[in-house]
Amino acid sequence: MKIIEAKHFDDMSLKAAQFMIEKVQRDPTITLGLATGGTPQKMYELLINDHRINGTSYHQVTTFNLDEYIGLDRHDPNSYYTYMHKALFDHIDIRDEQAFLPNGTASNLNAECERYEALIRQHGGIDLQVLGIGANGHIGFNEPGTSFESSTHIVKLTESTREANARYFNDLSEVPTEAITMGIQSIMNAKEILLLASGKKKADALYQLIHGKVDESFPASVLQRHEQVTIIADREALQKVAVSSN
Ligand code: F6R
Repeated sequence: MKIIEAKHFDDMSLKAAQFMIEKVQRDPTITLGLATGGTPQKMYELLINDHRINGTSYHQVTTFNLDEYIGLDRHDPNSYYTYMHKALFDHIDIRDEQAFLPNGTASNLNAECERYEALIRQHGGIDLQVLGIGANGHIGFNEPGTSFESSTHIVKLTESTREANARYFNDLSEVPTEAITMGIQSIMNAKEILLLASGKKKADALYQLIHGKVDESFPASVLQRHEQVTIIADREALQKVAVSSN
């Protein structure tokens, strides 16, 4: 595991954007796994700036998002489809048909999970998966207790995750109770992983991710078993972890 300490959120975002841009420039046909949430938002802004100024192209890039709420129409302002389009896809030259998210309104949700997993395989798997982390150790929407062998599946969101995400909705009651998420195994199948974290709310989770026991009760701990993980996190998030070098 490589740990890169950033000064603060903006610095984390810059370092993460530089990391991503280098990967895309080195392999213009790269398949990226993407996350939503507050953590990668500024990084996406910086990718857009770079696309505008330096012309880094996403025309041949394929993306797979980690998760999507069940029951929200994709054009709902809170769907992850809308998030990704507003935060990134509408502002770069990625082809719409190459930017995949699970469909949270599919009539057969189990079939949708299988379709999504198969689609990732058909595209040769994910080269670089971007992750955030929940304070309870979730990655994607894989909540504590999720099997390390899980592929894309339906989850019931924990109250703590719903409360954490309620900031985007008018009211907690509007936050969906279920989602489709790539599983732990789907995430571990990625050739490389970039995990981002910012702020003291993530300090315990990062400590456990790096130093804790590898156990399904703390999903992110599984990353200790992956050979290509880079963590870019700011000082507040790393306050409980001793970082030896930058
Ligand atoms: C988002 C996702 C989640 C978030 C996590 C952290 O697609 O899968 O695991 O990465 O909940 O969220 P933020 O970044 O809002 O703290």
